[in-house]
This record gives sequence, structure tokens and C-alpha cells, in this order.
Amino acid sequence: MSQKEIVLSGIRATGNLHLGNYFGALSKFVRMQDDYDSMFFIADLHALTTSTDPDKLHANVKNIIAEYLAAGIDPEKATIFVQSDVPEISEMYLLLNMHVGIGELMRTASFKDKARKQLGIKSDRDDIENEIIGNDSNKRVSAGLLTYPTLMAVDILIQKANKVPVGKDQEQHLELTRRFARRFNSFYGVDLFPEPQNFDFGGAPVKVPGLDGSGKMGKSEGNCLYLIDDEKTLRKKVMRAVTDEGPKEPNQPVSQPVENLFTLLELTSAPEIVTQYRNAYADCSIRYGDLKKQLAEDILKITLPIRERILDLQGDEATIARIVKQGAEKARERAAKTLAEVRHIMGIRRFV
Ligand code: TYM
Repeated sequence: MSQKEIVLSGIRATGNLHLGNYFGALSKFVRMQDDYDSMFFIADLHALTTSTDPDKLHANVKNIIAEYLAAGIDPEKATIFVQSDVPEISEMYLLLNMHVGIGELMRTASFKDKARKQLGIKSDRDDIENEIIGNDSNKRVSAGLLTYPTLMAVDILIQKANKVPVGKDQEQHLELTRRFARRFNSFYGVDLFPEPQNFDFGGAPVKVPGLDGSGKMGKSEGNCLYLIDDEKTLRKKVMRAVTDEGPKEPNQPVSQPVENLFTLLELTSAPEIVTQYRNAYADCSIRYGDLKKQLAEDILKITLPIRERILDLQGDEATIARIVKQGAEKARERAAKTLAEVRHIMGIRRFV
């Protein structure tokens, strides 16, 4: 048995990967695979909580595997698998749900956000529980969406992962995972699950902003730069990014849309370039057009080689199938062992 710490993370199969996924998760996977016992998966069951188009799901899964490989995940070093190829996860999801409160699930920020979107609730009031429960129209929020954090906790706990590299938006889910692990251990008086931690090479977890001046880059926000974007599309999106009228006085505070561009620049450009533009902002000589050109250039240096490889790999179905088959075997082996322990601990015993 390997002594290395176990790293596990996943991305939902809901479409192409964007720079938020890349800097929040994927680029860390690539850097971690040499030093950890790494497992990276495609969360297709989680994708069902928001998108229900059966014709697209498998293509999305295939795409993300191609994107994983194109970004540099090496199947010789890391286990790559598809969540639904590990049926043990679904069984343990049912078992763990017995220890999860509907109240704590309903208070989860991402649940409220998504419920609000699905029910068309316009207000940003926090107490939307009654609207969710009392809604008797055809619109409904599924129990699957509510129990999203249970499923995510099971993904992690069934592999007994120690480190879970994710972006800032996933920290609450990780906190719940730790809580469920502690609760299970203490309820049954066992020491079965480690408490997993986020990991960002010593830095704080990132939140990659969108180009529309608002908060985070996200598929449902329509503000994404995708790894698969061609040069022209990407340049166009960056050049159209929201800014402001420019600084009028030296050392003026930076507005949110412009700070977002600086954040992207910090992720993609050399430190001296960031300093140069920060100084230009401070002395009011900045030209946002130049900043955007620089940003597009530096993003393309990262994304274009990945894009080329994605396009090559997308057609190579045989390679993708071989990799996930191998990955599923390894993931199932560990998952089956944990599930057997959980069943035993919870009192589910077979007649012999
Ligand atoms: P998903 O598909 O929403 O996001 C995948 C990863 O991308 C990160 N991310 C971002 N990071 C920084 N800035 C952004 N704008 C940004 N947008 C997305 C997310 O933090 C995430 O790391 N629930 C997970 C999928 C999952 C999972 C797991 C992860 C299911 N089971 C077990 C780890 C362990 C998710 O939100 O995926």
C-alpha cells in the first residue's frame, strides 16, 4: 500500500472547462500528481443536479477527460475515472444521508443560489426556505440538488482522501465534508475517515473573476474564457471586458471590474508585468486597451497549447476509454473496501 497522502478532486460534466476551473482546480491537479497518490474524476452524477440533457452528458464526460489529459494529467501517475463508473459511491451516498440534516443542507450557499435560479426567485433574501418548500408549481428543486454536498462528501470519504484541491467556491462543501466525517467517526466511535483539507501550495484558494465586472467566472454566468476558445474568440472576449472610465487621481481605489482584470493578470502574467500595470494605474497613465492586449497575450500562451491537445484527444475515443476503464478499477477497489467498512460499522451484515 502506498504511503503517499491521497489527493482527490473532481469537476462536474456540465460543459467545457474555463479559466476558473483551470486555476481553481486543474492546474493544481497537474502540479500535485508527482507527489501524491492522486485521483481525479469527472462528476457526472453531480451534473444531473442542474442539467438533464441525456444527449449531452456523455459527450461532456468525454470532453473533460480530453481536457484533463490536454492540461497535463498523466494517467500513468494519476487515477482518472468517471464518478458513475464507481457504483459504491451511490450506495454510500444513501448510507451517509442517514447522518445528514436537511436543515444544514438547506443552509448551504450554493444550494440557495441554485434553488433561487431554478425557481426564478428574484430577491436575494436569505430566508427562501418557505418558498422552496411551499412551491407547488411545476418548478421544483430536486432532492438531488439538496443532497449535493452528501454526494461530494462521499466522493472524498470513500477514497479516504487527505487533500482536495478546489477553488474558493467549494470551501463550504469541504467544511461540510469534514463535519460529516467527524460526525460519523464520533457517532460510531470509530476512526474511519480523515478530515480532508483544501490545498493550494501554501497560498489562499483562488476565486477567478469573470470578465463582466461581477464576481466569479462560471458556466452559468456566461462570462467565461474557455480553454477551448480559439485565438480570435478569446481576444475578442478580453477586449470587451468591463472596465471603468480610468483613474482620475493618483492612487485612486481600484473599481471591482478593473481589479478583476488585475486578478487575471496576476494569474497569467509575470510579476514585473503586473507591477508595471499597477504602477501605471497608480500614476493615472494606464491605458486599459494595452492592459487587455497584454492579458489576452498571456492567457493565450497558456491556453493555446492546451487547446491544440484537446482537439487532438477529442477524437481519440479508444485512448479515453482505456484510461477511464483502468481508472475505474483502481477507484472501485478502494471504494469497495471503504463501503464494506461503512456497512459493517452501520450494522448492515450479510447472512453467511
Ligand atoms: P465544478 O465543476 O463546479 O468546479 C470544478 C472546480 O473548478 C473550481 N472553480 C473555480 N475556482 C476558482 N474560480 C472560479 N471562478 C471557479 N469556478 C470553478 C471549483 O472550485 C472546483 O474546484 N462540487 C465540485 C465537483 C465535485 C468535487 C467532488 C470536487 C464533486 N465531488 C469531490 C472535489 C471533491 C464542483 O463544484 O465542480
